[in-house]
Amino acid sequence: MENIKLSIDKAFGFVSEQNVAAYKSQVNEANKALHNGTGKGSDFLGWLHLPSTIDEAHLSDIENTAEILRDNCEVVVVIGIGGSYLGAKAVIDALSNSFDWLQTERNSPVVVYAGQNIGEDYLYELQEMLKNKKFGIICISKSGTTTEPALAFRLLKTQLEAQQGKAAAQKLIVAITDKSRGALRTLATQEGYKTFIIEDNIGGRYSVLTPVGLLPIAVAGHDIRQLVAGAIKMETVCGPETPFEENPAAQYAAIRNELYKNGKGIEILVNFHPKLHFIGEWWKQLYGESEGKENKGIFPAAVDFTTDLHSMGQWIQEGVRSIFETVISVKASNFTKIFPHDESNLDGLNFLAGKRVDEVNKMAELGTMIAHIDGGVPNLKVELPSLNEYYLGQLLYFFEKACGISGYVLGVNPFDQPGVEAYKKNMFALLEKPGFEAETKAIKARI
Ligand code: PA5
Repeated sequence: MENIKLSIDKAFGFVSEQNVAAYKSQVNEANKALHNGTGKGSDFLGWLHLPSTIDEAHLSDIENTAEILRDNCEVVVVIGIGGSYLGAKAVIDALSNSFDWLQTERNSPVVVYAGQNIGEDYLYELQEMLKNKKFGIICISKSGTTTEPALAFRLLKTQLEAQQGKAAAQKLIVAITDKSRGALRTLATQEGYKTFIIEDNIGGRYSVLTPVGLLPIAVAGHDIRQLVAGAIKMETVCGPETPFEENPAAQYAAIRNELYKNGKGIEILVNFHPKLHFIGEWWKQLYGESEGKENKGIFPAAVDFTTDLHSMGQWIQEGVRSIFETVISVKASNFTKIFPHDESNLDGLNFLAGKRVDEVNKMAELGTMIAHIDGGVPNLKVELPSLNEYYLGQLLYFFEKACGISGYVLGVNPFDQPGVEAYKKNMFALLEKPGFEAETKAIKARI
């Protein structure tokens, strides 16, 4: 089996190879600090050895639970927000048929999401769609108190009980939450739901390889053992024993910090396959929440090419030169589609006849990279041999590890997110939540 491959040479016209190499000892120290638990936020390092420590009994428990939902549900609603939904959605989208929800002959339930927004129309339409459907719920909240998922869960639990009866509904609800704290844990114990624990030492955005990600991914019919196997491989490849020059996480952490130091304050994650859109969303959360603090941090953005070349492409080519790109490149497509010859050739496309569509996509990728470098945009590339569970597992762990190292090099705690609380405090004050009386008074005086 190959590995995913990071290439950074197309950034060397913008920052020097020597300056990137100069990060060697700092990056190695950061990597060691993660492994020795001596850096900031060291009580949140449960993800570090997660892949290699997942045991057989735990994987089987997840698979058996997934099987119950698969056997009994047409639709499974995954309720969660942020780190409690993005990893599952990213992997499921990347591995599933793009038109999955339209398929009538199905082997797996349709997986849909709730609790990641408070859109009334969204929730109304979801509940209308679920009427008369056999559905199940996976409710994910580490704290067990987050408003968005709690709100969605109350609505959907009530609907499920009304449609199936309380006893049957109880068997179709799985809660993934803290082992003892939070409203979801209390509710799950009281109602007798099947539960999985999110360990205290794993933050939301690093939780994709816990049941938070693995259960929904297994419900969607994907091979979680291969996903974990890929992550285990990267655990070794990105470990502190791997020399700086051969360690992709170390290299990525070094070059992005050097680019940042040289005025490249925005990193754009690029894909050339629409299935990877949510990998971009997951990555944005991972890097945004980990590094954006103390008035520091690269702003993580993401685009889908070639789609966004017809919108954001102009800005990327000629806008403020504060950006660099990291391209997720997939070497081999899973299917073959040959472009046909046409006698009349009215569209003038016969020069493409006989070529694979992926060859056209690859030339778009290469042409874009050269154009953007010419336009002043450093390019990094992460190449996946193909799109499957194993290489996605590698990709997820690679990004997690590099994020931890990169955050330490930047000098921040990559494992907290104090800034997320500000909006919640205001929302509760505005909604007059009991206990927020003083904040309610203060905020109402401002509006
Ligand atoms: O990464 C994080 O910690 C956050 O994005 C959380 O996952 C998100 O806020 C949801 O929190 P919880 O799982 O406690 O409902």
